[in-house]
Amino acid sequence: MALPLPVALAIIFIFLTYNIYQWLPYKLPPGPRPLPVVGNLYDIKPVRFRCFWDWSKIYGPIISVWIGSTLNVVVMNWELAKEVLKDNDQSLADRHRNRSTEKFSRGGQDLIWADYGPHYVKVRKVCTLELFTPKRLEALRPIREDEVIAMVESIFNHCTKPENLGQSIKVKDYLSKVSFNNITRLAFGKRFENPDGTLDEQGKELKTIVDNGVKIGGSLSVAEHIQWLRWMFPVDEAAFNRHATRRDNLTRVIMDEHTLARQKSGGAKQHFVDALLTLQQKYDLSDDTIIGLLWDMLQAGMDTTVIATEWGMAELVKNPRVQSKAQEELDRVIGLERVMTEADIPNLPYLQCVAKEALRLHPPTPLMLPHKANANVKIGGYDIPKGSNVHVNVWAIGRDPTIWKDPIEFRPERFLEEDVDMRGHDFRLLPFGAGRRVCPGAQLAIYLVTSMLGHLLHHFHWTPAPGVDPEDIDLAENPGLVTYMRKPIHAVATPRLPSHLYERMPA
Ligand code: HEM
Repeated sequence: MALPLPVALAIIFIFLTYNIYQWLPYKLPPGPRPLPVVGNLYDIKPVRFRCFWDWSKIYGPIISVWIGSTLNVVVMNWELAKEVLKDNDQSLADRHRNRSTEKFSRGGQDLIWADYGPHYVKVRKVCTLELFTPKRLEALRPIREDEVIAMVESIFNHCTKPENLGQSIKVKDYLSKVSFNNITRLAFGKRFENPDGTLDEQGKELKTIVDNGVKIGGSLSVAEHIQWLRWMFPVDEAAFNRHATRRDNLTRVIMDEHTLARQKSGGAKQHFVDALLTLQQKYDLSDDTIIGLLWDMLQAGMDTTVIATEWGMAELVKNPRVQSKAQEELDRVIGLERVMTEADIPNLPYLQCVAKEALRLHPPTPLMLPHKANANVKIGGYDIPKGSNVHVNVWAIGRDPTIWKDPIEFRPERFLEEDVDMRGHDFRLLPFGAGRRVCPGAQLAIYLVTSMLGHLLHHFHWTPAPGVDPEDIDLAENPGLVTYMRKPIHAVATPRLPSHLYERMPA
C-alpha cells in the first residue's frame, strides 16, 4: 500500500533533519557541499585521487567527502598523514567492509578486511614472525628469479621471431604472468602454468575465481553507499555463496594435496600453505582464516607489483636518459656475460632509485586502503567521528611541490641526493602505507619490482612503439582502487646480451 504524500514528505523531512542534527556537534573538515541522501557521490570524478587533490586546492589539505551517508575524510599532506598513521594509528586502524568484502572475508576473518582487535593482532603476528621473515623471503628467492627469467625468455622468443622484429609488445601481459606465477607459487606452492604457457585445470579455475570475485564485487549498486536504501537492493546471495564455495573448494583441495605431500616427505616447504598448515595449532587459526590469508596475498600482491613495474617501464621508455644510466650501471656491476640476481640489488643503487621514483610518482594504491575510525579522533584540528573512513592520498603527497623539487619529473637521482625511506618511516613517501597496517609484503614487492625492472633493462633496450614519440606516451591513470595505466605501455624490446643468457633453466 502506498503512503499518502504528506506522510511520505514528513518521513523524509524527519530523516533529513535527523541526519543534519547528528553531525551538528562535530567540527568536520571542509569539503564540497553534499546533497541530501547521495552526498557528493555524483561530484566525484572517476579518478578519485586526482579529484580529491583538485578539491584540496579549494578546501585545504584535509577534506570531507560524503559518499552517500558515509563520511570519508581525505588527507593530502605529510603532516596530516603522520597524524593519521602514527599519532592516531590505533584509533584509525579498522576497515570499512562493503557487503562484498564482508561476505568474502567472512566478516573480517582474514587480515586485509579485519578490524583492529585480538584477531587482527594474532594474524598480523603470523605475517610478521612467520610468513614475511627475511629467512623465508630468501628461501623463496629461487622462485622469484625463475619467474623473472621465464619472462625474459618469453619476451626474447617473441621479439626475435622474424615477423615480430621491430614490433612492440604489451609489457603488462608479460609482467602479469610473472606476478601471477610468483604469488601463486608463494601462496599456494604450485605453478599452475603448463610448459606450453597455458594454465592447467586448477590454474584456470583459480583465474576464473579471481575474475568472478572482481565481477561480483563490482556489481554492488549505488545503494551500497546509502545504508537505509540497502533493503531495496539486496545482494545476490546465491552468487556470493557460489563464489565463496568455489574458492573454498579449490583451496581445500590444494591444502589437502600439500598435507599429503608433507606426510609422505616428512618435511614442510617454504610456501605459505605449508607454513600456515603447520602453524595452525600454534596460532589457533581457523580454516576460514587460512583460506582468507591465502587469498589476501593474491588480492594484495598480484596487481600491485605489475602496476608498479608497468609505470616504471613507461617512465623508462619516456626518459631514455634514465634508461641509459640504469643500463650503464647494470653493465658496470654485472657485465654482459651473466644475468642479474637479487643478490646484485644492493650494488645497484641507481636501479633501486628508479624503482623508488616509480613508486613515488605512481603508487599502485594511491589512496592506500581506507582506514575506519573506531573512536572519535581529531586530525588537523577537525573532528573525525567514530565510523568515518579516512584515506591518505599518498599519490598527492608524492607530488607535493613543497616537498619535492620538480615533482612531476621522473628523476631517480633525487634519492641519491637524499635517501628517503619508503617503507613507512618517512611520511613524504608512503606507497606501502605506514603504522600498524603498513603493507606486510613491502620487502617482497621491492625485491620483485626491482628485479623485474633490472632484468628488463639489462636484457633489452626499450623504445616506444613504432610511430610514437617518447613525449607522446600517455601517463593517465585508470580509475579504481588500484591504478593501472589507462593506456597500457607498448614498447619495442631489442636484446642486448648474448642469446644463451635468455634461457630459463626450469627449477
Ligand atoms: C608494489 C607492490 C605493493 C604495494 C604498493 C602495496 C601497498 C599496500 C598498501 C598501501 C596497503 C595498505 C596499508 C594501509 O592500510 O595502511 C597494503 C596492505 C597489504 N598488502 Fe601490500 N602492497 C604491495 C604488494 C604486496 C604484496 C606482494 C603482498 C603479499 C604477497 C601484499 C600484501 C598486503 C596485505 C596482506 C595487506 C593488508 C595489511 C593489513 O590490512 O594489515 N602487498 N599494501
